[in-house]
Amino acid sequence: MIWFVRVLPLYTKRMVLGILGSGSGSNMQAILDAIGAGTLDARIALVLSDNPDAFILERARNHGIATAVIDCRGFKTKFPEEAQQETADALKAAGVDLVCLAGFLRLVKRPLLDAFPNRILNIHPALLPAFPGLEAWKQALEAGVSETGCSVHYVDEGMDTGPVILQEAVPVLADDTAESLHARIQVVEHRLYPEAVKLAARSL
Ligand code: GRF
Repeated sequence: MIWFVRVLPLYTKRMVLGILGSGSGSNMQAILDAIGAGTLDARIALVLSDNPDAFILERARNHGIATAVIDCRGFKTKFPEEAQQETADALKAAGVDLVCLAGFLRLVKRPLLDAFPNRILNIHPALLPAFPGLEAWKQALEAGVSETGCSVHYVDEGMDTGPVILQEAVPVLADDTAESLHARIQVVEHRLYPEAVKLAARSL
């Protein structure tokens, strides 16, 4: 008689992602493309934005993904505590395992961080710890460095300070403008973010 031994778990849960973005959402699109290509076993359950006009919301709706706008109570840059709690509640209600910040322009703090400990990732357009903060590609250009890059990292209470999961260098060319440098960094971002999500998912 032949005995078959089951070596795989009986049930492997597909990872559920929640995305927060303020802008175009090309990194979310890269994650969707990786899911579509079968290289990332996940689904995006909810996309939230602090900007009702952000293209990321339209992209999500075009893919049949639920969206909502975060009410930041009229604050231009602050992410008020009530709004962070509402964001955490919405992500939990959608069954989200891992939160991906994709061009989200507000600083995540408590209580959102506490709701997803070590489960919030961010993509940053520089080789952290170099050039944290806004428009990092412009900072690199102004500093005259010969290379910059991008990093995917866990989010902690600081500004772009959490542990790095993956990063990759991008050369700065002599004739680079802020736009051309950012565009080349984004090409790398789109490959790196789905890979980093996969790595983070393995340690959940
Ligand atoms: C990316 O360059 C990312 O590194 C930064 O914001 C930009 C978002 O671009 N945090 P997109 O909205 O994903 O196109």
